[in-house]
Amino acid sequence: MMIKAPRGTADILPQDSFIWRYMEKTASDTAKLFGFEEIRTPVFEHTELFQRGVGDTTDVVQKEMYTFFDKGDRSITLRPEGTASAARAYLEHKMYALPQPVKLFYNCTCYRYEKPQAGRLREFHQFGAEVFGSTDPVVDAELIALAATIFKNLGIRGLSLRINSIGCPTCRKKYNDALTAYLTAHKDTLCDTCNTRLLKNPMRILDCKSPICKEVASGAPYVLDYICEDCSTHFEAVKKYLERNDIPFSVDPTIVRGLDYYTKTVFEFVSNEIGAQGTVCGGGRYDGLIQELGGDMIPGMGFATGLERILLVMRAQNLLPETESVPQLFIASIGQTADAISLAQKLRENGVFAMCDLAGRSLKAQMKNADRLKAKYSLVLGEDEIKSGMAQLKNMESGEKKDININDIAGLIACVQ
Ligand code: HAM
Repeated sequence: MMIKAPRGTADILPQDSFIWRYMEKTASDTAKLFGFEEIRTPVFEHTELFQRGVGDTTDVVQKEMYTFFDKGDRSITLRPEGTASAARAYLEHKMYALPQPVKLFYNCTCYRYEKPQAGRLREFHQFGAEVFGSTDPVVDAELIALAATIFKNLGIRGLSLRINSIGCPTCRKKYNDALTAYLTAHKDTLCDTCNTRLLKNPMRILDCKSPICKEVASGAPYVLDYICEDCSTHFEAVKKYLERNDIPFSVDPTIVRGLDYYTKTVFEFVSNEIGAQGTVCGGGRYDGLIQELGGDMIPGMGFATGLERILLVMRAQNLLPETESVPQLFIASIGQTADAISLAQKLRENGVFAMCDLAGRSLKAQMKNADRLKAKYSLVLGEDEIKSGMAQLKNMESGEKKDININDIAGLIACVQ
C-alpha cells in the first residue's frame, strides 16, 4: 500500500514553496526593520519546559502534545509553540546580561495533536516575535505594530485587532474567586477536564473547546472588570500608543488566550474570510514566564502568527504572487551537452538563472521544454556554434534573434538581463 503523509500534515510542493518563502521573508524583513534578530531553537524540548511554561492545565499540554520517551528514557515533546523555547534559550544563554530589551523573531514548525480542518493542522508553521526584559507598555504597542505592519506588507486588509487585559497575579486572585463562584454554580454541566480545572485553574475553562463549556463560559464575569490600578494604567497606555500609531483595534473582554503564561495585555488578529479558524495571530505579555522557568522576574511580551492561516487569507484576497522567477536563458544543444553545461555553469556563477537539457532530448523537445519553463531567451549549441564561437540568441516572447559570441560571458549576461 502507498504510504501517505500523516493526517494533519501537508507537503509544500514546488509550485507553492516560493509563496512560503515570500511570507517568511516579508515577516522576517519587517521584524528586522523593528530591530528584531532571528533565533532558531530545537524542534524538540524536554516535556517539562511546556508543562511549566505553557501550563499543565491547558488544552495544549493536557490533550495536544506530541510527547514520547527517547532511547535514553527522557520525556521529549515536539514544540507546540515557540515562546517557551525562546524563553528557555534567553535564560540558558544568559541574554539577560545583554542590553535589554532583547528582541527575537523566529520562523518555526509547531506540533499539536488537534482535529485537523481548514487552517488547523497537526504540523503547522508560525512566525513569532518575542521581547524580553521590559515592562514598558510601549513594548506591547510595538509588537502589535510589528504584526500589523507584516500584514500590511503582505497586502492583507480587513483583519480585526482585538485586545484585552487579563491582569497580573494580584488582580487575578480576586477575579479567580468571582469566576470560581460563577463556574461552581454550573459545575454539573462542565466537562470532566474542566471539573478538575475548577480547583486548579478556573480561567482555563474559558477557552475549553467543548460546546457546553463554551456556553457556560459565555456568561462568566470578565477579568477586565477586576484588573488592578497598575494593570489598568498599563492597558490605557497600550491603547494610547496604538491610537497614536493609527492602528485600529477594539477591546474584547472575552479574549483570555489558551496558554497559562499570559499577564496584562493579550491580543488577536482575526479574519472573517477563512472559516472557523479565523485567528490569524495571537499574543500577549508574559511577565511571569521566565521566573516560572527558573529565572529572575524578567518580563516578556510576544505574538505568533500561523502561516497556513495567512496563506488562506491571502488566497481569499487574491494576493498570492503568480510564479517565481523564470529561467533567463535555456541552452539547447545538439550533441554538445558538455559545452552546454559548461556555459550554464559560467552564467550561474555570475547570478544568471540558466537551464539546459538533462535528458538527451531532441532539439524540438528541448525547445518545447524551454517554452514550458517560460524561459526568456534560448540559444542552440551545435557543432558549428562551438567551432565558430557564435550562436543565435532568441527572445522567446518576440521571436527576435541576435548573433552573440558565446565566449563573451559578460556580453551574453548583458543580453539576457
Ligand atoms: P497560539 O494562539 O496558540 O499562541 O498560536 C498562535 C497562532 O498560531 C494562532 O493564532 C494560529 O494562527 C496559529 N495556530 C495555532 N494552532 C494552529 C494549528 N493547529 N494549525 C494551524 N495554525 C495554528 C502561541 O502559540 C503563542 N506562543 C503566541 C505568543 C508568542 N504569545 C506570546 N508570544
